[in-house]
Amino acid sequence: MILEILNDAFQHGLLYSRQAVFHNHRLAHGKQKKDDLVKESLTFVDSLLKPFTMKIPAALLIPLLFAGFACESAPKEEAEQSTTEQLTEAERSEYIDKGKQITQATFAELSGQLSEAIAEGGVPNALKYCNVVAYPLVDSLSQVHDAIIRRTSQKIRNPKDAPTEAEKVMLQTYHERAGAGEELKPHVKQLEEGRIAFYAPIKIQPLCLNCHGKVGKDVKQEHYDLIKQLYPEDEATGYELGELRGMWSITFTKL
Ligand code: HEC
Repeated sequence: MILEILNDAFQHGLLYSRQAVFHNHRLAHGKQKKDDLVKESLTFVDSLLKPFTMKIPAALLIPLLFAGFACESAPKEEAEQSTTEQLTEAERSEYIDKGKQITQATFAELSGQLSEAIAEGGVPNALKYCNVVAYPLVDSLSQVHDAIIRRTSQKIRNPKDAPTEAEKVMLQTYHERAGAGEELKPHVKQLEEGRIAFYAPIKIQPLCLNCHGKVGKDVKQEHYDLIKQLYPEDEATGYELGELRGMWSITFTKL
């Protein structure tokens, strides 16, 4: 029990110091080019966190990382070929690249931290981790990247992840394409007021089933009870391997 409390305190402390680090580091380099800044900030934070992340034996982490176990998945698909009216071809591919870079960096952060939580205390601990850390972590990465990073779905677990009207349209399109057996690719779209949206599909990988699969089969009943305690309105179970779980949604302000 005491260990659990200490662990929670540690996770919180770690999280908030990370946010502060991201923020201060960014302020200190206000004039620097954004892409360099992103890389530098992530490396900088990583170097600070090394003493903490090293406490889990690497042998435990490696299989988990290779399994792609995380609160979400990174998209690998290529840029979509269709044209978007208000954006030039060059702009479109620039935002596709940026979006992919961000989703991959965010995925790496989340999966690294989540693997650590599992190594420490199994699925229940990882659930707590997702509950306490995943959302603010994505939020702090949003600050670093100067973009709004979200994950959303037609069946949500955290009510904060509920789709906006524009996101609902894209989710529907992805589901229709998946239903037709088409390959799902990242998509860039011009929104109102000079904002640009990047969307990319998130699919169910083997280990996601532990928390998003069929209850009583993939998701242990006791784990589902815990999920329901944390997210009374949870809808995000019953998924099958390879199924579309949701999507990344990143909003940039056009420069
Ligand atoms: C240890 C349990 C656990 C595992 C394993 C897990 N998730 Fe989750 N997932 C959660 C929790 C808890 C949330 C809610 C996070 C929050 O509060 O921000 C969540 C949220 C999400 C969301 C955001 C939308 C929503 O419903 O709130 C997506 C998308 C998602 N998970 C996809 C995945 C994918 C893909 C995998 C596998 C790569 C995965 N998850 C593995 C527990 C898990």
